Amino acid sequence: MSVESTVRAVTTYRLTEMKQRGEKISMLTSYDYSMAKIVDAAGIDVILVGDSAANVMAGYETTVPITLDMMIYHARSVTRGAQRALIVVDMPFGTYQGNSKLALDSAVRIMKETEADAVKLEGGEEILESVQRILTAGIPVMGHLGLTPQSIHKFGTYNVRAKEEAEAEKLVRDAHLLSDAGCFAVVLEKIPAALATRVTKEIPIPTIGIGAGGGTDGQVLVIHDMVGLNKGFSPRFLRRYADLHEVMTDAVTRYIADVKSGDFPNEKEQY
Ligand code: KIV
Repeated sequence: MSVESTVRAVTTYRLTEMKQRGEKISMLTSYDYSMAKIVDAAGIDVILVGDSAANVMAGYETTVPITLDMMIYHARSVTRGAQRALIVVDMPFGTYQGNSKLALDSAVRIMKETEADAVKLEGGEEILESVQRILTAGIPVMGHLGLTPQSIHKFGTYNVRAKEEAEAEKLVRDAHLLSDAGCFAVVLEKIPAALATRVTKEIPIPTIGIGAGGGTDGQVLVIHDMVGLNKGFSPRFLRRYADLHEVMTDAVTRYIADVKSGDFPNEKEQY
């Protein structure tokens, strides 16, 4: 394999160019080989191996319990399935906060063991040292501000963040800090649209919104929510593009009926 062919079509540099020319960036999560293959072949720009895997893959209430080993397993499956999209991996809770050496070790493990392109960390000023140390190793970093689910026990609610002026001003400062430090993009989750638009105009790196309105440089959704696999989650910002829950339930129900009646397998379906 040549050096060129190991570099994906979508790079962090290309995302900056997209922001500069006003081309919106599409991003979706994936956690396994088969899903990543579909999402990549459809032409998505960025695949996020989100720690939302804790919820939609492992069935946990929050993203807090997922481990680095679990994230590495998911990320390895995704990188095998996707050729074109930039692949970003969430650093899980407890692998980067308050300890920049641990942060670098965790990020290096992700990069070496998964062949992903970048990592994502939640938070601003409080994790800046970790962000800086990871960046010094040449590992691209995506930031994540607003509703940062790893801090759910601090917030106590999944409601919209930064509605009050003090929190909004801190978010703007944090966005500048992450951008100045050298992050290549920042996710803005569940904040007022006007605030997301302001941040997008003020910083030179792309902003990717989820529940942050149409003024960001790109959008991200959790794939299970967007294709209707996860029916129990219906926030206002979610647009469902399919109802795979219904499609799969119908398929499984008909299969059970066919097995019970002896209709499956028929003569053509045997050797
Ligand atoms: O883990 C995740 O899926 C995320 C997105 C919601 C941005 O962080």
